[in-house]
Amino acid sequence: MTSQLHKKGEAWSARFSEPMSELVKRYTSSVFFDKRLAFVDIEGSLAHAGMLAAQKIISADDLAKIEAGMAQIRGEIERGEFEWQLDLEDVHLNIEARLTALIGDAGKRLHTGRSRNDQVATDIRLWLRGEIDRIGGLLGDLRGALLDLADQHTNTILPGFTHLQVAQPVTFGHHLLAYFEMFSRDAQRMLDVRKRVNQLPLGAAALAGTSYPIDRERVANTLGFDGVCRNSLDAVSDRDFAIEFTAAASLVMTHVSRLSEELVLWMSPRVGFIDLADRFCTGSSIMPQKKNPDVAELARGKTGRVNGHLVALLTLMKGQPLAYNKDNQEDKEPLFDTVDTVADTLRIFAEMVAGITVKADNMRAAALQGFATATDLADYLVKRGLAFRDAHEAVAHAVRICETRGIDLADLSLEQMRADLPAVASLLGDDVFDYLTLEGSVASRDHIGGTAPSRVKAAIAEARASLASPR
Ligand code: ARG
Repeated sequence: MTSQLHKKGEAWSARFSEPMSELVKRYTSSVFFDKRLAFVDIEGSLAHAGMLAAQKIISADDLAKIEAGMAQIRGEIERGEFEWQLDLEDVHLNIEARLTALIGDAGKRLHTGRSRNDQVATDIRLWLRGEIDRIGGLLGDLRGALLDLADQHTNTILPGFTHLQVAQPVTFGHHLLAYFEMFSRDAQRMLDVRKRVNQLPLGAAALAGTSYPIDRERVANTLGFDGVCRNSLDAVSDRDFAIEFTAAASLVMTHVSRLSEELVLWMSPRVGFIDLADRFCTGSSIMPQKKNPDVAELARGKTGRVNGHLVALLTLMKGQPLAYNKDNQEDKEPLFDTVDTVADTLRIFAEMVAGITVKADNMRAAALQGFATATDLADYLVKRGLAFRDAHEAVAHAVRICETRGIDLADLSLEQMRADLPAVASLLGDDVFDYLTLEGSVASRDHIGGTAPSRVKAAIAEARASLASPR
């Protein structure tokens, strides 16, 4: 029988007395963005058809035709020859219509025991799983680049800041390892999300399941899913996995954004801690002297866009009754853009970090200003029996005196120090200067998670091992 389907253009037109207006067609169609799911759509259809044949729901001959037709369609899409039609609404109906045009009735039997509702949910999960794996790899590259740079700077000292005020000296390797930790947690989060993404919706059909004797486990195995979604209504309707992914992606971008902020600051001539390679910077059309860290700024900006996608998806979901609603078609663009933004950003950052030039002398000069070792002097006094609060007060007094003289604590002679701090004079010995140097200060923070060069070296070795096996 030749159905009305392809004559009228819409899969459900037999039910309707008038065609859809052009405007409504454009409004409701998704093909120009969801065609991105074409290859996973074909993969899902082939697994479904294989199961239908194994269960004797369709014939082996139908399956062979479906497989040949899909191979042809895949080729057409790869070569850019496939004609995507707005009239056919989405990627699923476009491919199915082409299949039927190629192989006839066997193509019409593919959709047995299936709905676009479980089909699209399967497609997104398959696609997202692949993207999560790609993003995991890109996070690995960035983490590797941070480790390589950290390795070269286990002894490079810069001021550590709190409130953006000089706090205590830290090693640059240690500072970079902080970002390694953030991106490692991001990688773990991605792996965790992957588990919940990797469940098979197919078999849920429109919402209630299907009366055909299907084998969902078989389809799950074929497609590499860890299991099948346990409730058909939930399987077709919830997009929490996409929300969870976007939340994890927002955190990736948040960490990138924090790093970006530091790169921008460090590259400001006022700070001068680093230089970024020219290929990641732009000039100004009016100010010849400028070299702007545009990539870092843009990444900071794009973080807002991904955060926006997270809010969009949460809002999309929050009012939906069970089961599938067309609202869910709106899940794709935010999700696609999130993946694109995060993947591009990570790729660029791995390269940009590898190309950072460190200006160690400027870092050191900055660490020597701002009394970065004041805490070390207080700790020195505590180790000689003074209570910490009293030590804090004595050193604060010394800092005030030094400030009025325009010198650093380490510039004081032992005699001056004793004269300025009569209350603790008896506790001060020649060895105090060992504690006031930058090297002495960082070396003394010698425990797990501390900034001492030996600890940073050990942390890098551990990090390299964890990079080889993420969990
Ligand atoms: N294009 C649709 C989507 O992305 C596919 C599912 C359509 N299902 C339906 N009942 N209209 O969600």
